[in-house]
Amino acid sequence: MQFIVKQTADAAADYVSRLIGEQLGANPRSVIGLPTGGTPVPVYARLVERFRAGGTSWKSATTFNLDEYIGLGPEHPASYAAYMRQHLFDHVDCPPDQRHIPNGLAPDIEEEASRYEATIVSAGGLDLLFLGLGRNAHIGFNEPGSGFDTRTRRVSLTASTLQANAPYFQPGQTQPSEAITMGIGTILEARKIVVLATGQSKAEAVRRMIEGAPDIEVPGSALQQAREVLVVLDADAASGLSGQRIAS
Ligand code: PGA
Repeated sequence: MQFIVKQTADAAADYVSRLIGEQLGANPRSVIGLPTGGTPVPVYARLVERFRAGGTSWKSATTFNLDEYIGLGPEHPASYAAYMRQHLFDHVDCPPDQRHIPNGLAPDIEEEASRYEATIVSAGGLDLLFLGLGRNAHIGFNEPGSGFDTRTRRVSLTASTLQANAPYFQPGQTQPSEAITMGIGTILEARKIVVLATGQSKAEAVRRMIEGAPDIEVPGSALQQAREVLVVLDADAASGLSGQRIAS
């Protein structure tokens, strides 16, 4: 697992947007895995800028989001389908039938999970998977205790995750306590993984992901077993690591 430390969160997001742009430039038909949350917002903003400047097209790309809340349809403003439209898909040229997000309203979530796995396989697998990291070191919605061989499935969210994501819900909107997420085993099959973590609140999770022993209580530590992983950090998120250097 390699990591790179940028001075600021903006510089870290810019770096990740360049990596994704380079992937799409080298292979316009890339299959890209995408996260939601606060951390990726500036990455998507830069990808939209790159698209508008004529640099990064998504016309031939296929995307797979990591997760979705169970019980929220794509029109619900707090759904990840809505988030993706707001931050990326309404602004770039990725055709709707090439964009995949688990269906949080599927009547049979187990069947939806198998269908999602099969769709990733039939697309040829993930070429590049972009991930965030939870304060509790979760990846996707794989909370502490998730096995490293888990597949796409129904999960219950922990109190810490519910608290971290509560601000995305308006008063009167019910925050689901369950989600459908790609599993850790699914994530580990990606050919390349880029993790972005910024801010002091991620420093301990980053330290345990990179320097700790693999431990199912630290889902991010599973990435030590992935093929090719680059962790992109700002100085605050890297502050718990021994021996880090800021890259220009
Ligand atoms: P955040 O979420 O970017 O909103 O902190 C990260 C994650 O949970 O993966």
